[in-house]
Amino acid sequence: MSEGISQPDQPVTREARAKGDLFAKFDELIQMREGLLASGVEDPFNLVMEKVLSPTRAICNGRETILLGTYNYMGMTFDPDVIEAGKQALEEFGSGTTGSRVLNGTYQGHKECEDALKEFYGMDHAMVFSTGYQANLGIISTIAGKGDYVVLDIDSHASIYDGCSMGRAEIVPFRHNDIEALEKRLKRIPADAGKLVVLEGVYSMLGDVAPLKEMVRISKEAGAMVLVDEAHSMGFIGEHGRGVAEDQGVLDDVDFVIGTFSKSVGTVGGFCVSNHPDFEIMRLVCRPYVFTASLPPSVVATAATSIRKLMHGSNKRAHLWENSKRLHSGLKDLGFQLGTDEPQSAIVAVIMPDLTRGAQMWEALLKEGLYVNLARPPATPANMTLLRCSLCAEHSEEEVSTILGMFERAGKAVGII
Ligand SMILES: Cc1ncc(COP(=O)(O)O)c(C=O)c1O
Repeated sequence: MSEGISQPDQPVTREARAKGDLFAKFDELIQMREGLLASGVEDPFNLVMEKVLSPTRAICNGRETILLGTYNYMGMTFDPDVIEAGKQALEEFGSGTTGSRVLNGTYQGHKECEDALKEFYGMDHAMVFSTGYQANLGIISTIAGKGDYVVLDIDSHASIYDGCSMGRAEIVPFRHNDIEALEKRLKRIPADAGKLVVLEGVYSMLGDVAPLKEMVRISKEAGAMVLVDEAHSMGFIGEHGRGVAEDQGVLDDVDFVIGTFSKSVGTVGGFCVSNHPDFEIMRLVCRPYVFTASLPPSVVATAATSIRKLMHGSNKRAHLWENSKRLHSGLKDLGFQLGTDEPQSAIVAVIMPDLTRGAQMWEALLKEGLYVNLARPPATPANMTLLRCSLCAEHSEEEVSTILGMFERAGKAVGII
């Protein structure tokens, strides 16, 4: 065995690591994590939900905890009809399809789920993927290849960047939510080149909404196709919950809407809907759709049931807006610095001075019985450390008041307010 390679009873220290250890590139991150844990805080990226009691409550570290860091915006995970549909499909169709959508993996349930999506968005075509990540990866890499240009907001989700890399299109980033920057970038691209503009309805780190109305118009005038990822707005934003493009009146001008089942829909999976007349060819050419197993029957059954119920979710949408406004103004009044001046979505981001105090605050809140998401660079814009709160339509008014009390006590204890 060559020098420096670990023996089971002799762990290699980082200093003694062999040359060529491919893990060396993670040293900085490992040190940052070790430094954080050495400060005595609990590992914020290793929390276990020991029991889930409802969309808004779980047992964490043996104590009942209010959940304010899930993406369960519409609280569908324990909906009785959704649960029943899943159970029935599990019994009737078994636990999994064991195959790709293009071979043995398309069941009646996948078709029904795609029908529900077509109806939800009023679009001609819907394609279900195994995750939202794969939907972005698949659609972007398949339609934008070498020689094409993808113009995207610099704060785009990793799955969007990965889709660009996989397709080998030229990536043209523009400043976050900056209409003029988008226009300038589009003008610099050769007029006859293939162009895809990729936008998100709600940006998940700060919870801010894109100016889609202007951006979609500018993109169309420049001859670009437009894809909008509505992961964090589906079910909640827009009159029918179709997202920010619906809310700003531009849904008909968008070529592709990407979404996920892992947020408002309350399960797992991803999709793309479109009115493009040739869209169905994607089922044969899109590798992250073809070369992976399809979703289990119970998952597509829960998704279809949830999507159909979300079509009639206007009361829940109204209550979620109330929750978002109440939390946003309450935190602002307490003196916390927030990601947006006004509430724009179900995400309220609280800006922390640094990672250490962010982790201390995260832990103090957990001890109070509140779970939020700690987000740090590189996932966050401008190197920010954030405590991201995401509200659920099932949070009650009293729960939001309780949450504010927890923030006040934790914020004072850590010295942030
Ligand atoms: C904007 C955006 N797109 C896509 C995804 C991926 O969704 P999924 O969890 O279904 O893979 C996420 C997930 O966080 C997201 O925030």
